[in-house]
Order: sequence, then C-alpha cells, then structure tokens
Amino acid sequence: MENEIAKKPSTTDGLNRVDGRLKVTGKAKYSAEYNTKGMIYAVLAGSTITSGSIKSIDSKQAESAPGVISVITYLNAPKIPGYQDSASQAKGPLKIFYDEKVYFNGQPVAMVLADTFERAQFAAGLVNVTYNTTPFETRLTKNLGKDVSPHNAKDYLRGREDAYKTAPVKIEQEYLIPTDVHNPMELHAIIANWDGDDKVTVYDKTQGVLSTQRSIAQAFKLTPANVQVTAPFVGGAFGAALRTWPHEIAAVLAAKLTKKPVKLVLSRADMFTSVGYRPHTWQKIGLGATLDGKLTGITHEASGQTSVYEDFTEGVVNISQLMYASPSVNTKYRLVSLNVNTPTPMRGPGEATGAFALECAMDELAHELDMDPIALRMANYADSDPLTGKPYSSKFLSDAYKLGADAIGWGKRTQKPGTVTENGWLAGYGMGAGMFGAYRGSATVVARLLADGTLDIQTAVTDIGPGTGTFMTKIASDIMGIAADQIRVKIGDSSLPPSPTQGGSAITSTVGSAVNDACVQLKQKLKELSGNVEGGSGGYAQILQQHNLPQLEVTVTSKGGPDMAKYAMYSWSVHFMKVLVNPATGVVKVDKAVSVADCGTIVSPKTARSQIIGGTIMGTGMGLMEEVVIDHRYGRLVNNDFANYHVPIQADIPQCEALFVNKPDPYINPMGAKGMGEIATIGVCAALANAVFNATGKRVRDLPITPDKLI
Ligand code: MOS
Repeated sequence: MENEIAKKPSTTDGLNRVDGRLKVTGKAKYSAEYNTKGMIYAVLAGSTITSGSIKSIDSKQAESAPGVISVITYLNAPKIPGYQDSASQAKGPLKIFYDEKVYFNGQPVAMVLADTFERAQFAAGLVNVTYNTTPFETRLTKNLGKDVSPHNAKDYLRGREDAYKTAPVKIEQEYLIPTDVHNPMELHAIIANWDGDDKVTVYDKTQGVLSTQRSIAQAFKLTPANVQVTAPFVGGAFGAALRTWPHEIAAVLAAKLTKKPVKLVLSRADMFTSVGYRPHTWQKIGLGATLDGKLTGITHEASGQTSVYEDFTEGVVNISQLMYASPSVNTKYRLVSLNVNTPTPMRGPGEATGAFALECAMDELAHELDMDPIALRMANYADSDPLTGKPYSSKFLSDAYKLGADAIGWGKRTQKPGTVTENGWLAGYGMGAGMFGAYRGSATVVARLLADGTLDIQTAVTDIGPGTGTFMTKIASDIMGIAADQIRVKIGDSSLPPSPTQGGSAITSTVGSAVNDACVQLKQKLKELSGNVEGGSGGYAQILQQHNLPQLEVTVTSKGGPDMAKYAMYSWSVHFMKVLVNPATGVVKVDKAVSVADCGTIVSPKTARSQIIGGTIMGTGMGLMEEVVIDHRYGRLVNNDFANYHVPIQADIPQCEALFVNKPDPYINPMGAKGMGEIATIGVCAALANAVFNATGKRVRDLPITPDKLI
C-alpha cells in the first residue's frame, strides 16, 4: 500500500526486546523473587460463604501449627489508619480484616504468617471460621431488572431516541459476555519490609509504582517518599495490577505487625477473586438502516455486574457513540450489584465488550441487507468525530480494512453463510473493527550521557510486557545516534522521575515523548558545547572529555499541548478471522487471523508485532474459550484454575498476522505514535463470531463460542 508520509527508514527497526535475554534466562527478577533474610510467608484464607457475617473465628489450632508466627483476622488486626478516611462512605474498596461482613465467596477472612510458605499454607487450612449466612445473588441475567444507573455514566442521546425502530431495515439483538479473568502468567505478589515506623519498601506486582506508593502512603498515613515501590519487571497484568488491592495492604500490615519482611504470593485460585476481572455483561443493540446501508439509528444498552460494596463502571456503550456516522444514537449503561468481588479494567476495558455487540450487530445488519460487511462499514465511515464534531488527528481505518481484507483473502468469502467446506469442515470469514482513545499524559525522564559516550535513561514507569524499555531505547538510539547496546534504561522504581501508571495504551505516547524531548535537549546541549554533534557515542565521549565533563544530564517533563483538545484522537483496528467449524462436533478452529492496527507511527516494530498478536490471542480466548463459571447454589467459582478455565495455547492459533498502516499522527506527539495495547483485543471476538456465522449460518450471541452452541 502507498504510504505517502512514511517515516524515514530507521536502522534500529530490527531492535530486539532489550530485556528479552534477561527474561528467557530467568535473570529478570520479579516481585516474588526479592527474597531477603528473615523473610516470612503469608497465605490468605478466604470465606467459604457468599454473603453474611463471621460468627466466630478459632485460630488456636493454626497458631500452634509448626512454624506459624501469627494469624491475622478482623478480631486482632489493628485498624488501617487510611480506612477511616472512607469509613462513612456507603460504598468503596474492600477493607481487609476490617469487620465481620462477608460480601463474596473467597473474600479474605484470615492471613497466616509462618516461617515457610508450605507451613503458612497448611495452617491456613486450620483456621476455623463459622458464619451467619444471608441470601445472595451471583447471577447477572436473573437480576437485570435490579440494575441501577451509575452516577458517572449518563444516558446519551443524539438525534432521535430509538430511531432504528422505524428504519426500512433493522435488527435488534441481545448479546452476553461472561466474566473473563486477566490471569497473567505471573501471580500477583508483594514483599513488604518496614524500616522503623515510618518507612516501608515493597517489591510489588503493579502497573504503576507511583500509584501503589500513593495508596500505601494513604493507607498507613506515611509520607509518599517514605514508601519505596520497586517493580522493574512485571509478568503481564492486562489491567489487573492497575490498582492497589486489599492483599497488598494486608502484606504491608503484616510486615508492620511482625517487624519482619513478609512475602505474599496469590495462588492461581486467588487470582480469580482478588484482582478483578472483565465483568459479565448483558447488551442489547438496535440498528436501523436505509436499503443502501446508511445507518439511521443505533441504540445500545448494557448492564454489567459489579460487587455489592463497590461500583465499577466502564465504557461499554461508548463505541456506539463514536464508531459510525449515524445521525441518531442513544445509549444506556447500568450496573447490577452481585455477591462477587469488584471487576477491574481488562485490556480494552468496556470497548472490547461493546465492540463484540456492535460489530456482531453490524454483521447481522450486513446479512439482512445482503451487503458485504466491509462495504457496510465504509457506507457509514465517520470522517470526523461523531461525538464532538471535532476533526480526527488522524484516521486511516479504511487503509486498514484494505490491508486486512487482502491478507486474509476476503475475496474468497461467500455472502451466503454455511456454503463452503474444506476437507469436511465448514469454512467462513469474519471481521470486526475496534477503536480506543489515543492519549498522552505527562512524564518526566532523566537522560544522562556518561563520559564514555553511553547513555542512561530513567523514569518510574513499569513495563507490564509491551516492551517499554525497548521503545525507550529505540527512540533514544534514533535521536542520539548511539547504538542500542550503549543505552541503559532503568524503570519500575518509585524513586525515579515520575511517569504515569502503565495503562490505557498511553505509555509509548507519554513516556516516548519524554524520552524524545530529553534526547533532543541533550543533543542541543552538546551542540552548544561543540557545534558538531554527528559523532555518535565516540563523538560524544570526545566532547565531554574536551570540556572536562564527567557527564551531561537533562531532566525533562513532557506532555501534550493544545492540539490534544483541538482534535479527536483515537487508535483504530480491524481483525479478520478465517475459521473452520467441524459440522459434527462444533469445534471451531482458527485457520488464520489477521489484525491490522492504525495507530500512527510504529516505533518499535518487533514489540509492536508481539503486542498485536498477543491481543489477537487474548481476544480469541474471549471469543472461544474463557468463561468463569459460578455454581449459583453456593455462589462459588467452579473453574478457578487453568485446568478448567481455558485459555488459548499455541496450537489454537496456527497463523496470526499483524499488520500496520504505519502513518504518523501529526498532532499527538513527536513520534506520531498512538496506543495499540487495547485495540489489539477490541473487535477480535466479533470477528470470530462473524466468521463462525459465515461458516455455519449459526449466530452465537453469548460468548464463549463453545462447541455445544454450534451443534
Ligand atoms: Mo489496561 S486495561 O489499561 O491495563
């Protein structure tokens, strides 16, 4: 494809993940691996009831078990000072070991501390808790009538309400997604160690060392600078480590009480009830169109589950306000409180859920109109932001449609479903688009050129996997002309210059800009010193030597300017799937997946490709496999392990292609780069459902698309 404003070729495009070797050789140290002398181990015991209160706790047997140091429950835990700040609020984050109340099954009711992990785990089973139980609800679909309007989500209307109802062609359908859990490979873990009464150091799995620092400081009423948070490596998070959870506060409390370093690693089962999830959500979409496929109205309603103690909201219906140029759109978003733990953002939060419904509905409308699904989208292509009327900073989604259609072989798709077989399997093609806000926050970076011409770049940001250190190295290398292996990046440490929490696909834009600006300033300083700065590492070393400088350092804070408000900024994606469906067993095989991102300049091609492929795989799990199952008689999860909660493995994704439009966004930041983490997943499961329909003629509107739904 013609790329008129392609960036100049970069010699570092082949750059490998700078910490890849450390990761694959086991040298990268994760939070649970900072073992120190005298460290003790914490294990949580969870409630076995789903709603009610603790009647009694007998911890004598646990306390006298070998190696046990202490058993902490609400009966003996000192009140966390910061919990009093919100004591009068009706709802809020779960306060651990606070009182006798039980809101969900698995809620921590005791914590055992012992000299080894095994002894702590053994003793946790000896804590004897009795309960008073009260009636509970864990089933979203049974409680849709009890939904409430969250205070921060207003109903939206442009044009006429429910305009689709009077359109010449219309569809009206309901869609369901189940609860999906992030389940990063690395378990959430924290090691907490106090130094006296007013200082604590934690090694913690977190997406934001500074937000964790703030939360712990608030909870224990400490000066933030006295809370040191370290997280140089994070083994995946996907949103699950965006906030500070009760188990983290509990570990810090335990370390304070015992005056020993405490390690707490959640079990895989804990991961299902302690660190959030993508909430079970019901949606209804109405689409109306003219006979030639022009949308006249979109109605999108959604109800998602939350806990009884805290409201969690996400932008499920936003995508229907933004994606297509429909004159009439109305949306409604509601919450249903259930006896479950609180959900949390999970990759493409809101939009991934909303795009499943909207992009399936568009496919259903295309079928109704006997129109090609891409042609339907092009007939309703938005050339400016339908929500605000603002121009886009950049949008090349139509290029992405073309790139993806070519790569998947869209020409072979038949409009009539269920008509093509390959070796006895039904074959079908589907597509689904996605979008997500493109952001740029504020970040501070220190760049330090040393006497030997090597470069240090430091900022607090964490890397949850996308390759933060790699793009930082690449940007610096391109600007400074210093080889990547002469650049050292240090991140994931609260004592370094501030960066935002890694989330919302905003870090390349935000931190990348700060690295860019720091390097530009450094080069400027060198120019002022010598006038000639084309020398790379060796040249710089000479300049510093000539001026008797041990080093040259700049600290730069960088953030977006007025263009951020002038333009509507989004990243776009489209996912194409070719699936094979076994007509006898209903098994769905992904034969080929192609995901195309329009997210501005691709800064780091290798990690960008990995990011997109990872998102496609995650979306495939969401589409075909992942589902938390609750036994509603007891309100208890039945598949809280990897034997029963299915995620895709290599064999489930035989061919996966990541393509990029790679045209810079002129307004967002110096690199022209927009985020890609979320759009990698948004739209994938719609593409799968649409491909399954094309293969079989069967429309599955409740995820995951398991074989039983196809036979
Ligand atoms: Mo992401 S859900 O912003 O970690």
